[in-house]
This record gives sequence, C-alpha cells and structure tokens, in this order.
Amino acid sequence: MSNNKRKILATSALPYANGSIHLGHLVEYIQTDIWVRYQKMYPKAERECHYVCADDAHGTPIMLRAEQEGITPETLIERMHAEHRRDFEGFNVAFDNYYTTHSEENRLLAEEIYRRLKDKNLIEVRTIEQLYDPEKNMFLPDRFIRGECPRCHAQDQYGDVCEVCGSTYSPTDLIKPVSAVSGATPVKKESEHYFFKLSQYKKFLKEWIHGGHLQAEAGNKLEEWFAVGLKDWDISRDSPYFGFQIPDAPGKYFYVWLDAPIGYMASFKNLCDRKGLNFDEYWGPSSTAELHHFIGKDILSFHALFWPAMLHGAGYRTPDKIYTHGFLTINGQKMSKSRGTFINARTYLNHLNPEYLRYYFAAKLTNRVEDIDLNLDDFIARVNADLVGKYVNIASRAAGFIHRHFDGRLALTIYHNKAKEIDDLRASAKHIAKNYEGREYAKAVRQIMEDADKVNQYFDENKPWELAKKTNETERKKLHEICSTTLECFRLLTLYLKPILPDTAERAEQFLNIKPLTWTDLDHDLSGHRINEFKHLAKRVEKTQIDAMLNEAKESLNMTEETNPSTKSGPLADDPLRPEITIDDFAKVDLRIARIIKADYVEGADKLLRLTVDLGGEQRNIFAGIRNAYDPKDLEGRLTVVVANLAPRKMKFGVSEGMALAAGPGGKDLWLLSPDDGARPGMRVK
Ligand code: MSP
Ligand code: ZN
Repeated sequence: MSNNKRKILATSALPYANGSIHLGHLVEYIQTDIWVRYQKMYPKAERECHYVCADDAHGTPIMLRAEQEGITPETLIERMHAEHRRDFEGFNVAFDNYYTTHSEENRLLAEEIYRRLKDKNLIEVRTIEQLYDPEKNMFLPDRFIRGECPRCHAQDQYGDVCEVCGSTYSPTDLIKPVSAVSGATPVKKESEHYFFKLSQYKKFLKEWIHGGHLQAEAGNKLEEWFAVGLKDWDISRDSPYFGFQIPDAPGKYFYVWLDAPIGYMASFKNLCDRKGLNFDEYWGPSSTAELHHFIGKDILSFHALFWPAMLHGAGYRTPDKIYTHGFLTINGQKMSKSRGTFINARTYLNHLNPEYLRYYFAAKLTNRVEDIDLNLDDFIARVNADLVGKYVNIASRAAGFIHRHFDGRLALTIYHNKAKEIDDLRASAKHIAKNYEGREYAKAVRQIMEDADKVNQYFDENKPWELAKKTNETERKKLHEICSTTLECFRLLTLYLKPILPDTAERAEQFLNIKPLTWTDLDHDLSGHRINEFKHLAKRVEKTQIDAMLNEAKESLNMTEETNPSTKSGPLADDPLRPEITIDDFAKVDLRIARIIKADYVEGADKLLRLTVDLGGEQRNIFAGIRNAYDPKDLEGRLTVVVANLAPRKMKFGVSEGMALAAGPGGKDLWLLSPDDGARPGMRVK
C-alpha cells in the first residue's frame, strides 16, 4: 500500500426535516454524489472515500409543524427521514450513511464541543431582549414575526429582512409586529443567552477564508462579515424548543445551527461504529484525511465562519474544502409554487428517469458559485441528443452486427489494431478525471460528448452496413474490427460517464458482460470478449412526460379553478361544476383552522371581504364572499376553516391565497367558528 493513500470524507448539507426534497436540493446532492462516485472508482488501496449526510431535525419550524399536524416532533422527523431516504435513493444518491441530527452520537458530540469551548472561556452568558409571544408563551424566531418595515413601511414583512426594500433589521425595530404563530402582538422580554465568542477568532478566520479552503468568490463574500465587525454568536434558544438541552442550563437549548454541522461528525461516527473505521483519523487535530463539505450559497457563513471556529476552538481539525454552489432556477426563474415549477423529487420520479436530471445538472455544473438553470425544453433536447442520440446509439448500432455475424464475440485484435479512435479516447481520461476532481463537470461532459461524436463518425465512415453484405474474408474481418473497436470505445465512454449515470453504466456493464468499471480498467480492453444481448439503456424524453410532471406539480397545490362556495347556491348533488369526488380527492384538501386577524371591505366588490388570516405560523390574504353576513369589525379574532392548499388565485382586487369556509343558507346567515372553542390556528381539520 502506498503512503500517499488519500482518505476522503465528503458531506452534503443536511436537509431540514420539515420539508420534502425538491429539484433545488438535488443540485447539491447530485453534485456531491458525482464527485464521490468518481473518487470511489479508484482502487481502495489508493483512495478511500466516505459520503455522509443526515436530516437536520431540530429547531422551531419543525416543532411548530409537528404541533400543527398534531404529532410529536419525533414522529414527524421519523416520517421525513424515511421520505428523504427514499427520494435520494430514487436519484441514485448513494450515501454511506444517512443519519439524523436527533441522535445520541450528535448529542454527545455537541455537549463535548460545548464543554471544550466553555473550558476555554469561549462561552459567555448575556441577557438580551427579544420579542415574545404572550399567547403562545414562547420567544419568536425572526421568521415568525411579521410587521411593517421600519425603512420603507411595506406591510407584512419578516422580522429580519424586508422583501420589498431589502433592508435588514432587528425584529424589535418592526412597526406593529405580529406573531405569525398566534396572531398576538409580541412583547419585549429579557432572557439569558449563551454566546460563542466568535470575535476572538477574527484573525484566525480572516486567514482561514483566504487559505485555499473556499472558492475566491466565497472568500470575498465573507469579507462583508468583517467589514461590519465580527460579532459573537448566540448559540442558545429558550424552551419550548425541539433540540438538545444545554448541559447545566435548565430551559436552554442549543440553537439548531450549533448541532447541525456537528451532525456531519455524528453521522460519520455512527458509520465508524458500524464499519470499524477510525473516527479520529478523520476528525482528530492531526488528521491527514481530507474533509470536503458541499453546500449552497445561502449557508456559507455557517460553514466557513462559525463551523471552523467551533472546531478549532474545540480541538478538532477544520475542513479542507468548502465547495459552494449556486441556486437552481427553472426556465430562468426561481422555483415557484404559483408558476407550478416547484417540483418535488418524488414528482419528478413519478414521470422521468433520474439519470436524465443527473446528466443535465452535470452538463451545467462548474466549480463556481453561480446559479444554474433547468430549462425544460433544453433538458429534452440535451438528453435526447446526447444520451440517447450520441452515447446509447453507439452500442445499439454496433451490437447488432456482433451478434448477427460473430456470435456475440469481439475481435481478438482490438488493441493490436491500435485504432486511433481508441488512443484518442484513452487520452481523454486525464482531462476528464481532472474535471471531475475539480468539479468542472460541464467540461468533463463536453469532452465525453465530443469523443462520442468521433466514435459515431468513425462508425459511419466505415459503413459497416455495407461491409456486412460482403462475404469475403478481408471485409468480414474489417466489419468485425470496426464493430469491436466501436464497442471498446463505448466501454470507455461508459467508464467516463459512470459517476454521472451509475444506473445506465451498470446496465451497460451487463450488456458488455464485464465487472463494474473502475479507473484501472482504462488499461484493459475487450479483445476476444463475448458480450450479452443489447437491451435498451435509455429512452428518449417526451414532452408529454414533462407536461405530466408539471401537471402533477400544479395539482399537488390544487390549481383547480373554483368560485367561492359561499356565493353559490344549488342542489347538493348533480352539480355539473362539482361532480362526485372520491375520498382520495377529498384527502387532497388541506383544511386548517385560521384566525382572522384583519377584515376589510373591498372597494368595488359588494359581496367580498378581504381577510388577513393566521394559519399558525403563516399569514394569508383571502377574499371571502361573506360581506352580507358579517361586519368586518366583528370578524377580527374569530376562527374559520380555510382550504390551505388552494393554489393562489389572482382576482381583480389582489391575490387570494386560500379559501375561507362558512356554513349556512347564505345571505345574512353564514356561520364561522367562534374564537373560544379550543381550536388553534394551524390545526388540521380532520
Ligand atoms: N439544514 C440546513 C443545512 C444544515 S448543514 C449543517 C439547510 N437545509 S435546506 O434543506 O434548506 O437546504 C439543504 C441544502 O440544499 C443547502 O445547501 C441549500 O443551499 C440547498 N438548496 C436548497 N434549495 C436550493 C435551491 N433552490 N437550489 C440549489 N440549492 C438549494 O440549509
Ligand atoms: Zn422595506
């Protein structure tokens, strides 16, 4: 075994356990998975690579979501864990361990790191003032406070940033703040918080961010933190919270972002314990193993400031590399629920082959922080032209002749033949490997497709279909050699594409009747080898599949055009607008209790009221045809049942983001719930 064996630990960011995996997430998991698969194609004696990830299971949004669903956070995160695993598996993302931050390993590591920092006098307790929800009895994270922007006076902005003017501020600066959890007006309240003295690491971090661990763009971006003065970091949250209790600090929890990156260690620790690997070899202070984190640009500061400082302070090694990628846009725009381009992993898998998306992302990915666009027409064109038209085509064209004329056996002289095509193709390996290693997948793909073009050309120029009509020995030999050379080239192309297309490569290996391809197989060839029957490797993408996927994405948000039920009358049955529905149709309707925070008349609409309702964590604007029955003043504070997953509908007066339900004969007799019957905003109506 050589001394310079590379030992590599790679990670992708840990997805939050309160949402499904979507195509945006997959940019990162596919990017990392390709890199890891590339590494794993080297012999273990030269290179050992482990890939770990986990669900990020803690924090207020997860706690509140579980409450809304009427289940425990533990039940919620277990369900999401299973769902995430299945989705990743569906896209052939092959973690060596997919764990959770809500684990015993993570608790112990978080406590240990905290203690070590505390022992070094790097933790300080300070009293701070925060907004508190007096109804819900909890401190409110910035995202759960809404109000008027202190700068531009836009209404209904988050507690930390105004989406209209872009200014950032403290939630206590918001004008007329409202708790998004209960609708109550928050009050200021003091509480003790635990701070990690990040400011003491100014010099260390300033060097670190330019020390070859980050892309230059990322390092420059982080300079902004130093420009405003690096502040200490608040690592505690008050009860109620779903997370780990801080040792010797009753009622205090670690902020989710403290134990989340430690989750990388914990997931690896769990793998070590199961596989007999040495944890310290990878995380110990004198580790010579490589540590590579793949992340999105929104979480750079957590990984490149807080995380290295924490590790350094606690006597662990720091990451070698943090690779930051940009965000996914679809057809040039942010993924959007109302445009129907918010596509979940599962929705995609219901219609399309995961390898197509892997290929498309690879064809677009560079080592830079820039956003990448999934243009759906381009997606169809590229997959069909490249994967089907160039790569798969090579095998299907040559295989027929080999089976028909040579009993499935390749020529004995592929190598001695020294076809220039093969030499050229072998020579590409270095360039391709370098681009995989450097995350320049777009360049690797371009090279591979250029090579595939050349192979197709070689095949065409030699016109094997004409040779196949001849019977003399020389021409038959030529036919044999050309088709064999073509298939040897196909083998090399498969090897090169394997990190991107693991599943297709596996089926190509079965067809070629060879063991799983690795980089050492560059030196072999298929002389005299017997191949198997050719089975299709990839079908063309059809526009109808894309349309069906987009339809499902829309449908899952219930895009059906409907009128407000309270403005309609008619018999219950046989209504052509409302045909009979199945229980499954009904189950799609997400009915929630909502509190009416505000109700106003709508100018120019004699039936409608504009309602601002609170869904227990989120506010919506809804137009309801209940003006004949209620005075707006009498509605504020009342509860109603809302269809929460109705697609937003643009009306003359604004966008309606749901539908309020009322019962009664209509006119003046329409009933909503009274505010005091134990129902809470956000509760699911069973
Ligand atoms: N839980 C944190 C990460 C903790 S890591 C110790 C988190 N989770 S996330 O689910 O919001 O995002 C997971 C990863 O997916 C992040 O790296 C994020 O940047 C990435 N993406 C989420 N949406 C994305 C797009 N639309 N486009 C590209 N990547 C995106 O952040
Ligand atoms: Zn503003």
